[in-house]
Amino acid sequence: MAFRTLDQADLKGARALVRVDLNVPMDDGQVSDDTRLRAVVPTIEKLRAGGAKVVLLAHFDRPKGKVVPSMSLKPIAAALGKVLGAPVAFAGDCVGAKAREAVNALQPGQVLLLENVRFHAGEEANDKAFANDLAANGDLYVNDAFSAAHRAHASTEGLARLLPAYAGEQMRLELDALDRALGNPDRPVMGIVGGSKVSTKLELLQNLVVKLDKLAIGGGMANTFLYAQGHDVGASYCEKDLAETAREIIRLAGRNNCKLFLPLDIVVAEKMAPGAPARIRDVGSIDDEERILDAGPETVERLCRAMGNSKTLVWNGPLGVFEMPPFDKGTMTAARHAAELARAGKLVAVAGGGDTVAALNAAGVAEDFTFVSTAGGAFLEWMEGKELPGVAALLARTGR
Ligand code: 3PG
Repeated sequence: MAFRTLDQADLKGARALVRVDLNVPMDDGQVSDDTRLRAVVPTIEKLRAGGAKVVLLAHFDRPKGKVVPSMSLKPIAAALGKVLGAPVAFAGDCVGAKAREAVNALQPGQVLLLENVRFHAGEEANDKAFANDLAANGDLYVNDAFSAAHRAHASTEGLARLLPAYAGEQMRLELDALDRALGNPDRPVMGIVGGSKVSTKLELLQNLVVKLDKLAIGGGMANTFLYAQGHDVGASYCEKDLAETAREIIRLAGRNNCKLFLPLDIVVAEKMAPGAPARIRDVGSIDDEERILDAGPETVERLCRAMGNSKTLVWNGPLGVFEMPPFDKGTMTAARHAAELARAGKLVAVAGGGDTVAALNAAGVAEDFTFVSTAGGAFLEWMEGKELPGVAALLARTGR
């Protein structure tokens, strides 16, 4: 895609305002997963090496336009400094005197993190005056937060219209990978969509059956499809009111020559508890009190074969209750198989979305995938075929 990248920027001595995503999981005041911190390092390093003054803009959580001390980015500045191996200074506000003074004190190659942009209501409102206040501290703007690009906020969208705008390294990697997976994929291209609710992934399924050659549906949402086909689902989670919608998706897939893979066999149990006694059953043969908690071995084998006959895989959502053995087997087996094919150079395997990344990490295969997105909501919106405002604003500025 035609973005301006940092290689085209005049960095020496410039104040680079960099939108990053530091919305990391915290546990007891400590960062519990530093994936997003590691993801921003290449851009920061590149800017430092070019002699820029690096001013980081980010949000944390959803303070809704008010100062909420527990949502301060201050502890994250220290954690980022550790990952970066260089000090990261911190300013107690992202606009106004505090920000200006801290930015003015920066030397080329130094890094500063400004306080949570969402402490100001103007951020989410994409307010022009607030965006101008942010822009006052920069000579150029870099967006490296693909995972926040589905938000049309001042720091993700507005700023791109006020300053010379560039895609950061992580943004570039994400967009390249997504283009390889759905934009211009090597075919056949296969999708795996899992997770519990059809209702949250309707648009995504409708978009995918038009674009993909094969689509496997797993997790709780597969129950709704099985029910829609007339199968008994016992006490399983199932959105029965969406049966007609599921049938429409099946028809849409047929019209678009997208081969659908629904479960052939299932793993059922009476209790969803770690180590609960589980049985493998054919689809439809389930007792009233039993619940479907994973894809069965025959289903998973068929998915693995289908992956073997594909060139590209895009994966979002687990096939079963992967956090809880023995219901993790389907997801783990399929993830390991995809990773093996990717490692052997036979499959471009791209995955994204919160649960998916956790599942791949649990299987120990995230590193072997061609690309694992750091995005949750943005990855889903992209899979739905929606334009992401943060990306669109960068593209709009290419001509400058
Ligand atoms: C995320 O964690 O997915 C992004 O940082 C976006 O956060 P948000 O859903 O609060 O906008």
